[in-house]
Order: sequence, then C-alpha cells, then structure tokens
Amino acid sequence: MSERTLVLIKPDAVRRGLVGDVLARYERKGLSIVAMDLRTIDGETADQHYGEHLEKAWYPPLREFVISGPLVALVLEGDEAVEAVRLLNGATDARKAAAGSIRGDLGLSNRENLVHGSDSVESAAREIKLFFPDI
Ligand code: CDP
Ligand code: MG
Repeated sequence: MSERTLVLIKPDAVRRGLVGDVLARYERKGLSIVAMDLRTIDGETADQHYGEHLEKAWYPPLREFVISGPLVALVLEGDEAVEAVRLLNGATDARKAAAGSIRGDLGLSNRENLVHGSDSVESAAREIKLFFPDI
C-alpha cells in the first residue's frame, strides 16, 4: 500500500556534501519526492520531532547536532515507504549498520548518522505535519 514517510538528511550529511548520494539512493529505490526543503531547524522543532527521546541522557547532544546547520527535510512516497526507508537507512548505530545501507556505507557514528526516517505510519503522519503543515 502506498505510504508517505518523513526523511531528514541530517546536518552531517549536508556538511559532507552527501545530499546527492543519499537522495539518489531513495530515488533509485523507486520512492517519489512529494516535498523537499533545505532548512535549519530551531530547538523547539527538534524537541517536538524527538519528543519520545527528550528524557534520554543523549538527547542534549543530539539536539545540538540536529540544529547545528541546514538539513534537508523530505516527504517520500511509495509502496510501504516507511519500512523501505528504514531498510535503506540501516541500523541507528552507523558503526554497526549493514554495508549497502546509507548509514553502513557512509557513517561511523551513533549520533551523526546521516538520515532520519519515520518509524511507523503514525509517526510519519505526525512528523510530516510538523515539517510540512501545508501538504
Ligand atoms: O533514528 P533512529 O530511529 O534509527 O534512532 P532513534 O533510536 O530513534 O534515535 C534517534 C536519533 O538519536 C538517532 O538517529 C541518532 O542520531 C541519535 N542517537 C544518539 O545521539 N545517541 C544514541 N545513543 C542513540 C541515538
Ligand atoms: Mg527513531
């Protein structure tokens, strides 16, 4: 079934000049770009986006990282897009992510791990509304 999911190409990937590489992987997979915007988010938006993690010990450094520079926010659409993006992204800890995944191929950090993908259809709806209230 066709779904939409929110993807963030995080500030580390933008700084490293990897936006094109990352975007090409989603496109080659067959996902469609529904919305796309380069922007720097503020701390309040980071807190809303990562609401489930606010109390974690590692949240403050994650917050600093995610607001540290521009990121690319995207809405992608396709058959089972939520799961497809999570598979392309790879495991959270890029040091352990499978080769062939975005994190496995391009990252070596548990924090600066290049990409975000919604973890469920429900999260996707909430996150899309936060980043793209008009679509
Ligand atoms: O992004 P994903 O859903 O794979 O992982 P998460 O467990 O929901 O964590 C959200 C984000 O927090 C990760 O993508 C990392 O950027 C960051 N993180 C971190 O900074 N330190 C950790 N120990 C775990 C996650
Ligand atoms: Mg998550």
